[in-house]
This record gives sequence, C-alpha cells and structure tokens, in this order.
Amino acid sequence: MFTMKRVGHVGIHVTDMDKSLKFYSEVVGCTVTGRWPRGEDLELTFLRFGEMHHDMVLFTHPTQVDPNSSEKGFNGLNHLAIELEDRDEWLKALSHMRSLGVEIIQGPIIHGIEGDQNVFGSGSRSFYILDPDGTRLEFYTDMMRVPNGEPFPRADYADHIKS
Ligand SMILES: [Fe+2]
Repeated sequence: MFTMKRVGHVGIHVTDMDKSLKFYSEVVGCTVTGRWPRGEDLELTFLRFGEMHHDMVLFTHPTQVDPNSSEKGFNGLNHLAIELEDRDEWLKALSHMRSLGVEIIQGPIIHGIEGDQNVFGSGSRSFYILDPDGTRLEFYTDMMRVPNGEPFPRADYADHIKS
C-alpha cells in the first residue's frame, strides 16, 4: 500500500514555550522555523533539523501535562527518537549534552547482544535524555536493517546467541 521510512515530524505539548524553545534550540540544536500564536491559549513553534519546513512542532495547550504530572513516559509519548548520521555525529551529540550538564537518563548503550541486551535489539548506539516536560528523547545511530522477506533474528544465529 505504502512504505514508511522513518519518523517524519512529531508534535508535542509543552507547558512553558520559552523554556522548551530554549531547550530544543540550545540543547537539542533545532532551528526555529517560526513561532506563532493561535488564539488566546495556543501558541505553536515549528522546529527543523535540516531543509524541511519542520521536523517537530511544540504546542502550548491546556493539557493535563503539567510540571507535576510530567513523570517519565506518562505524558502520552513514550519517546521521540532522533536518528544521527553516524557514530561520529552520535558521539558529538553525547559530548554536547554532557558539556551542558544534561542528565543522560539511560545509556550510552548499544541495543542488542553487543550491549549485553537481548538478541532482538537493533544494534543501534543510543542514549536518552528528558525534555523539560519529562518527554524522553532518544538519540541513536547505526540501527541495523532487516531486508524485506528476512526473518529476525536470522536463523543462522538466532539459536546460538539468545541469552
Ligand atoms: Fe527508540
């Protein structure tokens, strides 16, 4: 019917636009395409990584997500995963976050048996941080491919490396 490639853009609710805009600009490195008020209670900001108009949209909203309810993973989005070009870029991102004192809540890890996890892991290098509302952000690279028609894990190693 149709083929999906990767996460295109994601919209999330934020409780403090200034705070989140600063976070996504300075920590994550997004470029602001535009910030627009919509009515009395809504403002939205388009953010981009490259040449597309937007990859993310931040919405202020009279939402249930507030500073008291923004526990990890309980704000309607489990995690937003941002793929980096290669290991070098991933290491730059990790270094950048650390230099800003951002807490790495999980990782850096390798998803898979190489990282002491399950064989079903993707093999990607990954680490996670939280945005100001508790939304988990994953930064990853080197996710393995599973060619069309191939099972995973492949039969020639599945039985031998399961933990
Ligand atoms: Fe992920």
